[in-house]
Amino acid sequence: MILILNGPNLNRLGLREPAVYGQTTLEELEELCETWGAELGLGVACRQSNFEGQLVEWIHQAESEGFRAIVLNPGALTHYSIALLDAIRAQPLPVVEVHLSNIHAREEFRRHSVTAAAARGLVSGFGALSYKLALVYLADLLEAQP
Ligand code: DQA
Repeated sequence: MILILNGPNLNRLGLREPAVYGQTTLEELEELCETWGAELGLGVACRQSNFEGQLVEWIHQAESEGFRAIVLNPGALTHYSIALLDAIRAQPLPVVEVHLSNIHAREEFRRHSVTAAAARGLVSGFGALSYKLALVYLADLLEAQP
């Protein structure tokens, strides 16, 4: 099972800045992730929170809940949350950071990810497909480490 976590404001997808984030709603994105996971032989559970502490707790608990990896879009927390960086480092599961938009092609303050330093890798700029690419990597990784 893979845990997919979406952070602040991602519950507003579809309504929020569609020129940047597209028309796909969070519900549709989560359905896509479940479909892609199933195609790759991975179970997927999706959660979203606007609260940093909730994301920290979900990251801490993921291994004991039986998850084998985490796909994380920290939203704006990407750019300043040392608490999320530390949470990723405080647990053993591989974490792949994803972004819908290309954070390196946007405002200066979005070009640095604090959290990516603790992630296996970063997929940014491919819309919903960023999540699919993260799942493709994790399917390969988990197949190599049964
Ligand atoms: C985002 C990029 C962040 O800079 C922004 O704050 C978000 C969404 C993305 O998926 O492109 O909320 O993480």
